[in-house]
Parts: sequence; structure tokens; C-alpha cells
Amino acid sequence: MTKFLFVTDLDNTLVGDDAAMIELNRILDNHRSQHGTTIVYSTGRSLALYQELASERALIKPDILVLSVGTVIYHQDSEMPDVNWSAKLDQGWDRDQVLTIASHFADLMLQPNSEQTSHKVSYFLSEAVAEAVLPELKTALSDRGLAVQVVYSSGRDLDILPVAGNKGAATNFLQQNLGMLPEQTVVCGDSGNDLALFERVKSRGIIVGNAQPELMDWHLANPSPNRYLAEAHCAGGILEGLQHFGFVD
Ligand code: GLC
Ligand code: MG
Repeated sequence: MTKFLFVTDLDNTLVGDDAAMIELNRILDNHRSQHGTTIVYSTGRSLALYQELASERALIKPDILVLSVGTVIYHQDSEMPDVNWSAKLDQGWDRDQVLTIASHFADLMLQPNSEQTSHKVSYFLSEAVAEAVLPELKTALSDRGLAVQVVYSSGRDLDILPVAGNKGAATNFLQQNLGMLPEQTVVCGDSGNDLALFERVKSRGIIVGNAQPELMDWHLANPSPNRYLAEAHCAGGILEGLQHFGFVD
């Protein structure tokens, strides 16, 4: 067994089956102390909502925390987000313009203030109208020359992000900084905001058995031997995938 870079989403990926998570936590924590494996949480949540989850569930301490859909990176023991990463996200990003354009779409409901950050603007959008609204919104943003990404997850959450930032881009940045190879990197997820992990990162991928249709459909249309669709849900699916790729026994 050798060290690897472990990157996982939280809600409905690592978190969702407490018994399976406790078992996986034990395995990961041992791997980290014996082999130096790096544990990264990559979540859509802000710091405030991450802390809320951490107070409710038995999460082990990550080495690196990637928040707000890849737009904020905290390294262990640092109180401040990585400024090199946030500086990259500024490129071509005009938050005020994004808000102005999005305000013309009546179906978009702003998420709570805690989820609005300097590099992420988030709304709720109901699944019933998403198919019609999303292309119009994308066109309106690109007509104004705004280089942004529109990410829709779980039939509910809509994030507008700088073109340089998402979970995949943040993982590439960490993978390079840590000097980890694709075969030493594994990414895990369940929904639309995880798609960039699978699409953009040269790695092994684990999709948990309870994945949302937007991710499942993409996976089925773009199969890869480096991506494993687990049968088990949440942490049980992660463990199944780690064993499949030989990261753990
Ligand atoms: C988390 C965030 C929310 C975001 C969603 C999907 O729930 O709190 O702001 O829209 O993830 O990325
Ligand atoms: Mg999730």
C-alpha cells in the first residue's frame, strides 16, 4: 500500500450512511498515519455550513478543505484561504454583472447569504423549469462576454462560478502542488457539482451508487476504465471503489 490523494465530496457521498462512514474513516485515518495519504474534502458548502456539518457528524479532520464548489481552499492549520488560488479565480470574473444578469430570471431564488461568496453566486432553481431556464441563462451570460460556469446539482442548486474555478480545477491545483500522479489520485462524488472532478482531473474516479441522474447520465454516456460506479451508497460506495482500484485492501 502506498500513499494517495483522496478527494471526496461530503453530502450524499462521504456523508449519508453513518455506519459505513465510521468504517471508512478508520481505514482512511490509518492509511494517513501509516503511508501519508492526503485527505481532501471538496464540498459545495461554505465554511459556515461545513462547520455545521462537522458539528453534527463524526468527520475526521481533513488535510485540505475545498469549499464553495472549488472556489475556496484551506490548507491544514491555516486560518486563511489560499490566496494563490483566489487570485486565479479573479481572472475574467465580474460578480456584479453576474448578479445583474441573473436578476432578470424570475425563477432563480437566491440562496442564503452564507452561500454567496466573492467567487460564487448561488440560487435555488426548481427542476421543473431548469431545462428551459438554464440555456437562456447561459446565453444571457455569454452574450455579455462573461466567462463563467453554470453548475446545476441535485435538481435544486444552481451555482455561477468563475471560469477558472470548480471542484476539478481546485483538485488539479492541489495535485500539482503535492506532486501526485493520476494513478495516485482518487476523486469521489454523487452530483452535478462533482462532474468537474471526473471530467477535468486525471485520476481514478468513484461514483457512489446513489448518484444523481445528472452525474449518472454523464457517466453512462462517457464510460472510462478509470471510473468506477459503485453499487453501495455513500461511504460504502467509496470503500468499494477504493478496493476496486487497489488503494486499500
Ligand atoms: C451546497 C452549497 C450550495 C450549492 C450546492 C451545490 O449545498 O451550500 O450553495 O449550491 O452545494 O453546489
Ligand atoms: Mg454531494
